[in-house]
Amino acid sequence: MNLPLQTRVAILGYGKVGLGVKEAIETAPDMELAGVISRRWKSVAKDLPNVKVVRRLDELSDVDVVALCIPSPLVPNKAPKILEAGINTVDSFDMHRDYFYRLYEGLNKVGKEHRAVALIGFGWDPGIDSMVRAIFQLTTPYGVTDTDFGPGMSMGHSVIVRSVPGVRDGISITKPKGGGRHIREVYVVLKPRADFETIKKTITEYPFYFEHDETNVTKVKSLEDYMDTGHGALITRRGKAGKTSNQFLQYQIRVDNPKVTGQIMVAAARASMRLDPGAYTPVDVPLRCFLTGTHEEILGRFV
Ligand SMILES: NC(=O)c1ccc[n+]([C@@H]2O[C@H](COP(=O)([O-])OP(=O)(O)OC[C@H]3O[C@@H](n4cnc5c(N)ncnc54)[C@H](OP(=O)(O)O)[C@@H]3O)[C@@H](O)[C@H]2O)c1
Repeated sequence: MNLPLQTRVAILGYGKVGLGVKEAIETAPDMELAGVISRRWKSVAKDLPNVKVVRRLDELSDVDVVALCIPSPLVPNKAPKILEAGINTVDSFDMHRDYFYRLYEGLNKVGKEHRAVALIGFGWDPGIDSMVRAIFQLTTPYGVTDTDFGPGMSMGHSVIVRSVPGVRDGISITKPKGGGRHIREVYVVLKPRADFETIKKTITEYPFYFEHDETNVTKVKSLEDYMDTGHGALITRRGKAGKTSNQFLQYQIRVDNPKVTGQIMVAAARASMRLDPGAYTPVDVPLRCFLTGTHEEILGRFV
């Protein structure tokens, strides 16, 4: 396969993950920033004097991959249009189960029709944690896996909090209760005249993101005292290898959430250039596709 020497990646949405993608592109030997697409293009352009900052994708040229760094609920609407233009997409879509499979089915169809590749759910969770859970499962097919998140800031849940009418700014901190259960501590700064009780109800009942967890919403004057983009996960599996019980597997990460997500999305952008048209999830892609180096070098380094 003839790959371009430099893969040109455009960033859609210049928030915290968008910045993470930018920094990862700048440190990758085979990646080039094609531009940033932002609703706030004027102010972002001032912050990024050496980058092409535009309102729409068609204002950029020779884009190989678009990194969707927008709120996850917007991905199902935005990604198909990019694939229809024959451009690959990567996202860190963080809605699991039915939401995830529906997105996969849709993007797989559009990708195949327009000869483009979509990599879905390439953050740290979903993302590399998904790969680890799959490796644990193949090692001990019968058993129980728990993923305990945090304590740390969930970008996906924070995005949802900020989208609630009446919220000027907000974050959601995830605290592990053990056994894969969590408490969500939400801190909100309200807009003038906003009704706190209504906001609290909307957040605690928010489908998928908050409805199933114990959620505490606190009104604060400023987020400064609570802001920390660190996060982490502890994945534990107890299970059987063959007929033998008591196998114990564990994996732990502590990360800066948006920076690591940006880094993984850039590895996914590289992989997208090596795959046939269609959609792929974290359990679908050979690991060598994410890495720089020849196949022989990769085998020498890791196997
Ligand atoms: N899988 C994972 O492990 C993982 C980890 C972290 C984050 N994520 C996902 O990444 C997403 C982005 O997180 P983030 O922390 O970067 O969020 P953020 O800081 O709020 O940035 C999101 C950006 O999306 C753009 N945007 C476009 N339309 C928007 C709209 N209607 N409302 C709000 N923003 C809009 C904005 O950029 P412009 O103003 O420049 O247009 C905004 O800055 C989250 O939804 C989360 O699901 C996944």
